[in-house]
Amino acid sequence: MKRIAVLASGRGSNFQAVIDAIENKQVPAICAMLITDNPEAYAIERARAKNIPVTILDFATYPSREAYEKALLRAMEQCKADLFVLAGYMRILGTGIVKAFSGKIINIHPALLPAFPGLHGQRQAIQHGVKVSGCTVHFVDESLDGGPIIVQRCVHVQEGDDEETLSSRILEYEHRCLPEAIRLFCEGRLIIDGRNVRIR
Ligand code: GAR
Repeated sequence: MKRIAVLASGRGSNFQAVIDAIENKQVPAICAMLITDNPEAYAIERARAKNIPVTILDFATYPSREAYEKALLRAMEQCKADLFVLAGYMRILGTGIVKAFSGKIINIHPALLPAFPGLHGQRQAIQHGVKVSGCTVHFVDESLDGGPIIVQRCVHVQEGDDEETLSSRILEYEHRCLPEAIRLFCEGRLIIDGRNVRIR
């Protein structure tokens, strides 16, 4: 069994999808920790409901980003996790953390990367007028949402879609994609080959 830790900043519906997939034995893992930068995150309730330990690092209480990152690095080391899953974690990880856990951090993003990185991927898709968007799970590197891609799903943008309707349709696919990527990782089936991720 692999140990995973989840980082989330808000609602935590992707975190819930991961919890459910582990419970249903679709993902051979133990969720060892939820780490959040937001003491108000609903993800905390979801963790407590399943007796998953929670580390709250309230970003607002740290004197600097560096101090926060230092605490986060320490918390991540203490998890002894095989994999860290960013599930709606709304901060950019510092270089120190990315280097310390190279190939061990994945992120779910609500667009078909490399299109629309950063915040509000769904809003960017609507504003750009694309006909197809979707979601991406990728390894985290030092770029902004630019690391090697593991899985993607397409979602058609429909006539009359706004940010909210598109987001909720993309979210349904996120809830399937993220557990799938974690399963592949935990089964040892992901091979990072330069920019490419091969699935064996
Ligand atoms: C999800 O749509 C996720 O893809 C997005 O935040 C939402 C979190 O929802 N993440 C990003 O935009 C990261 N740049 P959730 O808290 O219900 O899982």
